[in-house]
Amino acid sequence: MSPVYQDSKKDLVHILLVSFIGQGHVNPLLRLGNLLASSGFLVTFSSCSEVGNSMRKANNNIDELVPVGDGMIRFEFFDDGLPESDPRRHDLDFYMPHLELHGKEAVTGIVKKHEKEGRPVSCIINNPFIPWVSDIAEALSIRNAVLWVQSCACFSAYYHYHNKLSQFPSESEPEIDVQLPSMPLLKHDEIPSFLHPSTPYPALRRTILAQFKNLSKPFCVLVETFQELESEVIDYMSKLCPIKAIGPLFKNPKSQLSNIQGDCLKPVDDCIDFLNSKSPSSVVYISFGSVISMNQKQTNELAQGLLNSGVSFLWVFRPPLPGFDVAVLPEKFLEAAGDKGKVVQWCSQKQVLASPAVACFLTHCGWNSTLEALTTGVPVITYPAWGDQVTNAKFLVDVLKVGVRLSRGNQSKKNVISRDDIEKSLREATIGENAAEIKRNALKWKEAAEDAVAEGGSSDRNLKEFVDKLMMN
Ligand code: UDX
Repeated sequence: MSPVYQDSKKDLVHILLVSFIGQGHVNPLLRLGNLLASSGFLVTFSSCSEVGNSMRKANNNIDELVPVGDGMIRFEFFDDGLPESDPRRHDLDFYMPHLELHGKEAVTGIVKKHEKEGRPVSCIINNPFIPWVSDIAEALSIRNAVLWVQSCACFSAYYHYHNKLSQFPSESEPEIDVQLPSMPLLKHDEIPSFLHPSTPYPALRRTILAQFKNLSKPFCVLVETFQELESEVIDYMSKLCPIKAIGPLFKNPKSQLSNIQGDCLKPVDDCIDFLNSKSPSSVVYISFGSVISMNQKQTNELAQGLLNSGVSFLWVFRPPLPGFDVAVLPEKFLEAAGDKGKVVQWCSQKQVLASPAVACFLTHCGWNSTLEALTTGVPVITYPAWGDQVTNAKFLVDVLKVGVRLSRGNQSKKNVISRDDIEKSLREATIGENAAEIKRNALKWKEAAEDAVAEGGSSDRNLKEFVDKLMMN
């Protein structure tokens, strides 16, 4: 153990962060960790060893203790009791209860170890999908907070569903619209898809709703959004539960102070040279996040649509996760694209979106990608698959008016979007009056996000209030 950690940092208030697996969960929680460390806390970031191993590879190892501003961040990963190659890891019905069983024991052990060593944990913060962390905090009489890593609109949908406060689609009425307070009317395929009776992922619905069952335990639910973006629904939900909008975390300069990033894959570094060789607003960036992947038919249509449109592109074509569709790029696609196109397995998305060459982002609308695009001033083409992505797509296109709709969601994987529709959407998002309007709107959201995280802005004030509460040890 490092001597600094052992001796001089015992006076720091110690916060334990516990993250679910997946880039979309690790990124926001680690950003929060960096912010808290920079405010003078000792932060321990924990998740299962699968996350630890990929973070170590992507970051060329992780020092035991990383100084960040006035505080420190350290990493402590736990064994979830399954070898990394065990296929049951991808069977959610098996894995979710398994993770709960092993995670509960492991996280309890971490807390007790720190108590014994004289660095008691004063608050545990978790993200959704591991609601059992709130049970540990309660059992050990430690304060608990949750970082909700999706929109407040989705939070409201799950809240209303769990508490039976609104009518949702059911087996007998699968296509009814849903009206939630302070929200636009959502069609049946615009609610978070895990709430739809047809979802093929009931295990995810059960787990996410378990967080709402446990909602009396956390003293605060931090939401990765900002007041100006979702003001009506935030105001409404604040009356029902102790939420605080503190995002977008990645826009907060303090979240970037540490040299440790949450990447679970190593970005290639030559995208920026490619982007620098292109004229402003000429490239479409394409990525579907860290989980979903396209089947072969859809990959072929996207590739041909891109070629037909003549638009330059940077496409993140990630190896699929086990259990997901396996596809390859069509033969001769890269030759046909020539210097107009580049395909990589992973990139630094933040850096890519910040490039002036990027005209728009063809995205699956995961909440991190949604916020990152919106608050970098990049318009989107929406291609959601499941979960919150379908709701995010609805807001991006119809409410925030920064996007062109390509698909309404495809959790059954039956619909294939044609090359012609793809080409049409690429044109619509990059050329003409509509393209200019969505760009103007995106730039407004970028400015609003910068104001929210700046000194005295809405998210900055909320975060400071939260930090003050944590300091009252
Ligand atoms: C998951 C769910 O699928 C999503 O619906 C939910 O909102 C969050 O959790 P994921 O699919 O990975 O997330 O998408 P997203 O939320 O967009 O997160 C992906 C993250 O990976 C982003 O922070 C993005 O910047 C990063 N990324 C993606 C890279 O850094 N490089 C890449 O090449 C692609």
